[in-house]
Formats: sequence, structure tokens, C-alpha cells
Amino acid sequence: MPIMLNRHSSVPLYRQLVNALREDIVSGALAANYKLPPERELAERLGVNRATVLQAYQQLKSEGLIASHVGRGTFVCASDDRQGGAPPWQILFSDYSNRFTYHDIAAADQAQRAPNAIDFATGSQNPADIPDDLLRDVSIRAFESADFHGTQESPIEGFPQLRELLADHMTRRGVRCDADNVMVLSGAEQGLDLCVRAFVNPGDCVLVEQSTFFPALQAFRSADARVIGVPIDEHGMRTDLLDGYCKRFHPKLIFTIPTFQNPSGATMPLHRRRELVETAMRYQCLVIEDDPYGELCYGERLAEGPTDALASGKPRRPRELTPLKGMENAGYVIYLSTFSKTVTPGLRTGWLVADSHVIARIAALRRMIDQHTSSSSQLICMELLSSGRIGRHIGRLCEIYGHRRDLMLDALHRYAPEGMRWNTPLGGYYLWARLPDGLRAARLLDDARHAGVTFMPGDMFAVDEDDSSHIRLNFVRPDSRQIEPGIRLLCDTIAETEQSADGHGGER
Ligand SMILES: Cc1ncc(COP(=O)(O)O)c(C=O)c1O
Repeated sequence: MPIMLNRHSSVPLYRQLVNALREDIVSGALAANYKLPPERELAERLGVNRATVLQAYQQLKSEGLIASHVGRGTFVCASDDRQGGAPPWQILFSDYSNRFTYHDIAAADQAQRAPNAIDFATGSQNPADIPDDLLRDVSIRAFESADFHGTQESPIEGFPQLRELLADHMTRRGVRCDADNVMVLSGAEQGLDLCVRAFVNPGDCVLVEQSTFFPALQAFRSADARVIGVPIDEHGMRTDLLDGYCKRFHPKLIFTIPTFQNPSGATMPLHRRRELVETAMRYQCLVIEDDPYGELCYGERLAEGPTDALASGKPRRPRELTPLKGMENAGYVIYLSTFSKTVTPGLRTGWLVADSHVIARIAALRRMIDQHTSSSSQLICMELLSSGRIGRHIGRLCEIYGHRRDLMLDALHRYAPEGMRWNTPLGGYYLWARLPDGLRAARLLDDARHAGVTFMPGDMFAVDEDDSSHIRLNFVRPDSRQIEPGIRLLCDTIAETEQSADGHGGER
């Protein structure tokens, strides 16, 4: 029974063992009634933990491929034993789907699903901030004034007028491009999926920020990429280390969220942006720049207090940092953004900026999945952009969200227990906090949900699944009145959880 496990693969060892044994059983190489080695013996032979073998055997039992008999051992079942019953899902699902880690989705759902709790967990805006009146108004205008009907089919890359408007919008933001360089998407996440299909082969190395948007991790892992995390600090990816990572791992892609990063809220300063782009070009490595939050910038805390700024009605938005895409014109950076964070995720409209030949390739791949972004959503976005109303709406959001960010910072300063640290995000949705030493985010989450407040544990975003010391707090999700009581509740829970952990022999 020769089994080879690859320790460098992104596929967990237990799953490699399941795959190898399953293949042998199904092909008949391991005949019915063959006695498998005891767990401990196989673990020693393969140089893995006994738990790895145990997990693999349990999986194969659930598939009806093997069975244990007390006192006799574990045996391969005859194929007849496997007929009928429930479908053997693990075999029926593709390797692509099996590589997906569903527990992340379940954990995210669990963090978000706490009725009546103050919600710092969910990664979207407060439904009350969706600009209903604006959307109603622009929808009516869009459908009235269009030379074509809302139900008309769109070209796969999007309506030419919308591509033009987005190209102008990006040019104003420092990314000079034409309509040919823009593709309208059904959300930025679709763009990510299409880039993975277009560029990533199994085994290709992808560099990401050490903590990153977990659907991106899922997308790369499902494609069987080797995902390596580059350390981050309060200014985002440590680009000073990037040359070493590129030399050692020869990445095909660098995935980055340089502005108001999810989950850390960090923003890369100009010199790091330059260093990232230059390093990528030196190693002929593509960069996917995911930028859903870049326009939501609040700058430093408002000097004279947030309420005054709101009352004055004068938006005082700091200057945006140029996206990476605006720093090169050789085509190494592929840019993604979306209306999900500035208008509503329900529009399902995002966009990609890249060389036109990349767009042609991605459009061909997209034809297999969805023909184009909803024409109605595109019409609405066209009206939002052409009327200039989106700019005013985003200006207003920046005032409101900057105020909520300040409320959260104030509450943390007031209530945070000793040993807790956090950053001051200059925009976006998220604040990243480090828990007092030894406290684990997952353990805290149970207590916090019980107490009536939720957050997203850092483990969700960690490349190596071991960042239990950080939590992500969405400061735009709750309404302003909930922030101070929510943070106080959270901080009290942290103190209580710390104490009870000490009371239980320090087990955390
Ligand atoms: C970094 C990042 N990229 C992409 C998305 C998803 O965008 P969309 O709704 O346009 O697919 C999100 C949403 O949370 C995000 O945080």
C-alpha cells in the first residue's frame, strides 16, 4: 500500500490520504475485506500525526468505503455494501469543490448571525445607509432617458456608454484608461474568479497579504494554487520583503488590497506602492489590485469633532492615493472595483481595468458563466455616474462613515482593556484590533455573541489559519448610536473572558 504525501501541497495531508486510499479502493487495488493498518502504525509509516489518519479513516467511513469492527480492525468494504443509501457526496463533488473550505463560510455565517446583537461582523453597510431615494430617482431617469430598453442584452464587456463613464471615472482617480480597458462585472468577486481562471494553474504560487479577504483565499485554493502570505504591518504589505518572496517562490500573481484593506484597514503609502509595482515588474509577475473601498477616505480624525463637520455640510475629503494601476502602463496590474461598498451590493456591478487583450480573454471565459452584468443595474450605474450624483453620495458617506470611525476610536480609547491595540484606518469599513495576549478570538466570539455583540475573528482571513489574536471590527455597519455601547460591551466581555480563562487554569 505505497502512499506518497506531498507536504508542499495546499491540499491538507488528511485529504491527500483520503484521495490516495479512495483511489486504491475504487480501482480495486485494495480488495474488499483488505485490512488497513491501525491508525498509529500508518501515521508512523507516513510520518504524520495520528489525528491525520483518524480524520482520513473517518472520512472514508462516511463514504462507505471502509468499516471498523471492534477488536478486529478496519477493513475495505465490498462494493455491494456501498449501493443504495445516501449519495456519496465526497466522491460526487469535484476536487475543485472539495478544495473549498466550507468551514470558513460556516464560521463567517455564525459570526454574522446573532439576532439583536450589535453587528461589527458583517462585511457590508447598514441597510439604512443604502441610498433608497437616490436609487429610486436614478432608476426612473435611467429607464426614461435611455435610447435603449433596460431589458436589452448588453455586450459581454458591458454597455459602451458605461465603460466610457467608468474609464473617465478611473482617469480622474489617476488611472488613465479608455473604454477598451474597462470591463463591467457582476461584482468585483466575479473579476477575481475570472482572473483565477485566466491565469492560475494548479501549483502556481500566489502571494497575498498575510491576512486577506477570505473569498480570495478560497478562489486561489480552489484552483490548487500555492498561496503564500507576505507579512503586513500598519502600512499594509511589507514590500521591503517582497523581493525575497519573489526570488524564493516565483509567484505568478500578487493579490493585494492596497487601500483600506480588508480585514486590516491598512493603507499602503506611496513608496510601498512603487516598490510593489517595481518588484512585480522585475519578476514579471501580475498584480491583482482589489480596490472596493478606495473612494471611502476619511483621513485623520477630524480636528474639530465629527458632529461639527456633519453639520457644516462641507465634505472635506482627503486626497485619494493613486491606485497601483495608475503607477504603470506596461499592463502588469489588473484593477478591480465595485459599487457594492459605495452604493449597494444588490446592484451586483463592479468593473475591471486591464489591457484590452486581457479583457478579450476574460470576456471569452465569462461567456461560459454569465453573459453580462444585468442591463438594469448597468443603466442605473450609468445614470449615477453621468449625473455626478454618485460623487455627492460618496462625499456624504465619507462624512458619515468617518464620524462612525471616530466614534469607534473614542470608545476604544475609553473602554479597551490593558493590552488591547488597534489601528486608525484612514478610510474603508474596517478597524483591526489586537486582543490582549493569550486571548483567542474564536473563544471570545462565543462570549461576545452571548453578551450581544459580534465581530469577525482574525483566523477567518489568515493564510495559515493561525491568527487568533486579531479581530476585525466593521465600524460602518452599526448605526452611530450603537457604536459606543457595542464597544463597551465588547471590552467588558474581553475583560470577563480573560478573567474566566485565568479562573480555568489559563485555558484560552
Ligand atoms: C476586498 C473585497 N473584494 C471584493 C469584495 C466583493 O465585492 P463585490 O460585491 O463587488 O463582489 C469585497 C466585499 O466584501 C471585499 O471586501
